[in-house]
Amino acid sequence: MPASAHVASHLRTTALAIALAGVSLFAMPATAQNVSFAAATTPDRGRIVLPVGKGGALSGIAAEADAKTNGAIGRAIAAAKFDGKAGSSLSLYGLGPYDAVALVGVGEGPKTVLDLRQFGGKAAQTVSGWTGADAVRVVIPDAADLARDAAEAALGAKLGSYDFGKWADDTKKDPLNLAFLSGDADAATSFARDQAAVMDGVKLARDLISTPSNIKSPQWFVETTRVAFKDVRNVRIEVLDEREMARLGMGAILGVGQGSTRPPRVLIIRYDGGPAGEAPLAFVGKGITFDTGGISIKPGDGMWRMRYDMSGAAASVGSLLTIAKRGAKVNAVAVSALAENMTDGNAIRPGDVLTSMSGKTIEVLNTDAEGRLVLADGLWLAQERFKPKLAVTIATLTGAVRTALGTNYAGLFSHDDAVAARIEAAAKASGEAVWRLPIHNDVIDAMKTPIADVKNVVEGGTVPGASLGAAFIMEWAKPETAFAHLDIAGMAWTTSANATTPAGAAGYGVLLFDSLTRSYEAEAK
Ligand code: BES
Ligand code: MN
Ligand code: ZN
Repeated sequence: MPASAHVASHLRTTALAIALAGVSLFAMPATAQNVSFAAATTPDRGRIVLPVGKGGALSGIAAEADAKTNGAIGRAIAAAKFDGKAGSSLSLYGLGPYDAVALVGVGEGPKTVLDLRQFGGKAAQTVSGWTGADAVRVVIPDAADLARDAAEAALGAKLGSYDFGKWADDTKKDPLNLAFLSGDADAATSFARDQAAVMDGVKLARDLISTPSNIKSPQWFVETTRVAFKDVRNVRIEVLDEREMARLGMGAILGVGQGSTRPPRVLIIRYDGGPAGEAPLAFVGKGITFDTGGISIKPGDGMWRMRYDMSGAAASVGSLLTIAKRGAKVNAVAVSALAENMTDGNAIRPGDVLTSMSGKTIEVLNTDAEGRLVLADGLWLAQERFKPKLAVTIATLTGAVRTALGTNYAGLFSHDDAVAARIEAAAKASGEAVWRLPIHNDVIDAMKTPIADVKNVVEGGTVPGASLGAAFIMEWAKPETAFAHLDIAGMAWTTSANATTPAGAAGYGVLLFDSLTRSYEAEAK
């Protein structure tokens, strides 16, 4: 567990913050919660969490614990009409010999690892106030594979109790200690090998997304990510500054970034865990560290949330951290296209024409459609450098995708049915849902303009917005590249929390890309 020093606690004064701008000398805040694993025996004292099945049913260790209370737990369940519905909970106090008992509903019982994560997350949220050195013991519901199930429940607990914390507050929090009754040292091994790596990736993504944009410049994103990858094996990091980008002709991302005093960056993280020379998977993320809209400025209401406009980049670096930490047998690369979209005397104007790295020219009719611009260069760079076997762009690209799909699915775009099917399967397995949307030829035709190769928006609202964003980016996908685009504008920031995703930065995409990576590992076996 890294030091839990809060970001801001090291930046006591604005002057100091300015002096350090672009230099990350600080650790991210940590979730004040520890998980461990213990013998699967019925506790005879202390604080416990018990799974409860449909209709209030208790089985296994939960039934034995009830017996130790002489049936008081069962009577409480009946009196409260607690029906054991998945996601429900009830806390009981003073039922001897236990100090406290939390009941967590599991309905028909967990069917997948996702159900176990939900159980663990709900357990951690229910007992969040039960801090102290004496661990709260958590009984695992009917396990198919106790070690794995306990490790997945523990991951759920970690995911569900993530807390970015209050800015500049370094009050020491009492940790919540959860001991999962796995009965087997294998759970700890599994957790150390796989689930902890997943949490580290999600946590990195959530921390990056949550950080306010006065701190979060493109250079800060680079430095903070570097710190997270320190000592991770088989990883190489390369950063393109504005000089290098100009040399490569990356006029699109440079154009977006030119209105900010904090220059753009391209962060390239390479992980080699597969056969030498094998084409990598490429995750190309939109990393707008703040999106004002630029000269096509956004309305003030809710603009603050645009600190999350780098969530695609957060997903790409977060997933790379996960797959590198768990030692996945693949080659992969995360390319983050980082820029701040500001209004300024030097900012690009509506009507400006930019030349992208590929040579394709873009008429910028709306400076607020900036994500597709930075991704055009990011995607082209990824293909030129790595010839990836699959390239996926991930971005909080359009408000339109939220109108189409709400906050339950990311929009998935691909002309390749096999790629789309693979991503859909990975999404199902990871619990991070996608829904495939079309790109009709009309949308592609609509991007034509007399003055450049394409324009970045079509005025008049006659063209579907999420498809248009995807179609624009696809102009930079080479015919030989297997390609998909994910629009996560509806998913990256959670307003209604659930058991594994607290409100705020979701870190959407880390689990999905990890799951996608696993599908390639399985194939190579
Ligand atoms: N970052 C926004 C997308 C966005 C908007 C995410 C609202 C979440 C909520 C993106 O850069 C943007 O501004 N898109 C415009 C595109 C338009 C100008 C064609 C949008 O969706 O309004
Ligand atoms: Mn925008
Ligand atoms: Zn944006």
